[in-house]
Amino acid sequence: MTAQQKAASLQARKGNRPITALTAYDYPTARLLDECGVDVLLVGDSLGMVVLGFPDTTHVTLDHMLHHVAAVARAHPKALVLGDLPIRTYDTPAQALETAEKLVAAGAEAVKLEGGTDQAEKIRAITRAGIPVVGHLGMLPQSVLEEGGYRKKGKTPEQADILLQDARAIIEAGVCAIVLESVVPATARLLSESIEVPTIGIGCGGFTCDGEVAVITDLLGSFPWFVPPFAIPEADVATVTREAVARYIRRVSRD
Ligand code: KIV
Repeated sequence: MTAQQKAASLQARKGNRPITALTAYDYPTARLLDECGVDVLLVGDSLGMVVLGFPDTTHVTLDHMLHHVAAVARAHPKALVLGDLPIRTYDTPAQALETAEKLVAAGAEAVKLEGGTDQAEKIRAITRAGIPVVGHLGMLPQSVLEEGGYRKKGKTPEQADILLQDARAIIEAGVCAIVLESVVPATARLLSESIEVPTIGIGCGGFTCDGEVAVITDLLGSFPWFVPPFAIPEADVATVTREAVARYIRRVSRD
């Protein structure tokens, strides 16, 4: 399937089967998740925290993203490879297109960028070039420093209305899906019911969106030093790792 066909089939999932998306930052993880049949592999700029050890996503560069997108793409997944446009690489429509083209050259099949109405022209520039775009509304991690923390969004009818206007603006510009992050459940459900493209939720409560995305380290329990309150771990890889390494140390040191 081409990138455009994958994006179209993602969009067609609205009202049908929920979309499953997980972050992946390297080749083995991409292969394993793809073998499991996940729909979207998001090479998210969350890699800044959970792979590179930065405090937030504002330290992620385009070179970081290109390196990890290429590793994931080498798995030749059936899933859509979605790459984040990192902060300060999409300040104008021309720059947004140039960055998106570089991510596609590295192996991304679609790109994601944060923001609403203000980003519509940039989204239009990218989609006009034939590159599928996923939007990202609600809590925008690239704005965490201006916002002074990670806060819930869509708490009041006025905030919900702004989110709806933002969603409509970016849909008009051509997004094929929208990630909703940390939007209160009632507003996430309302938005999902009000718009024609699928919403993919994270931190929005269960079953409020047309699909869900999770950060792979939250799902696997492999980054124990920070776990967001909404995460639902399905494994405890940190403990398995510590126990395996302790056995190795004992074996090698003949204790
Ligand atoms: O970078 C990322 O992992 C993301 C998810 C939080 C949706 O954008």
